[in-house]
Amino acid sequence: MLHRVIIAAETVGSTGVSTLSIAQILGVSERNNRRDQVTSAVMFLNGWCLQGIEGRRPDVDRVVSRLSADRRLKNLRILVDKPIKARSFAEPMSFCNDPRGMLAAVHLADLAEVTANHAERMIELKQAA
Ligand SMILES: Cc1cc2nc3c(=O)[nH]c(=O)nc-3n(C[C@H](O)[C@H](O)[C@H](O)COP(=O)(O)O)c2cc1C
Repeated sequence: MLHRVIIAAETVGSTGVSTLSIAQILGVSERNNRRDQVTSAVMFLNGWCLQGIEGRRPDVDRVVSRLSADRRLKNLRILVDKPIKARSFAEPMSFCNDPRGMLAAVHLADLAEVTANHAERMIELKQAA
């Protein structure tokens, strides 16, 4: 059984802003997620991060625990936590390079306002694209 968790969190300092910060996050995540058969996608905008994580229950939970303990993030909220029949993300870790466009597609200007429905709709739109 596969699960999908979508989290939203505030980012600390240059997390998700500087190229170095993004490269560090993507590098470690790619390695760990590939090992654990986790697929994921992340976006950053204006001090916020949105991330979808898919995989087997214990593997997804381990990623969420590490994110909760990661000092680069704060006020982490779980927006979605549900069983899924199939994965929506193809890669161990993919990076959304058009967060504004994705948000505009669900009529949002900022990640601070994102709800479970917005997050799920963005995934559907991405898959349809
Ligand atoms: C925005 C963000 C997203 C992250 N996503 C993942 C992830 O999908 N998988 C992962 O293993 N670590 C992810 N991390 C890193 C973890 O919080 C943690 O630093 C890392 O898993 C530790 O790995 P290590 O024990 O191999 O050094 C993320 C960190 C940030 C700031």
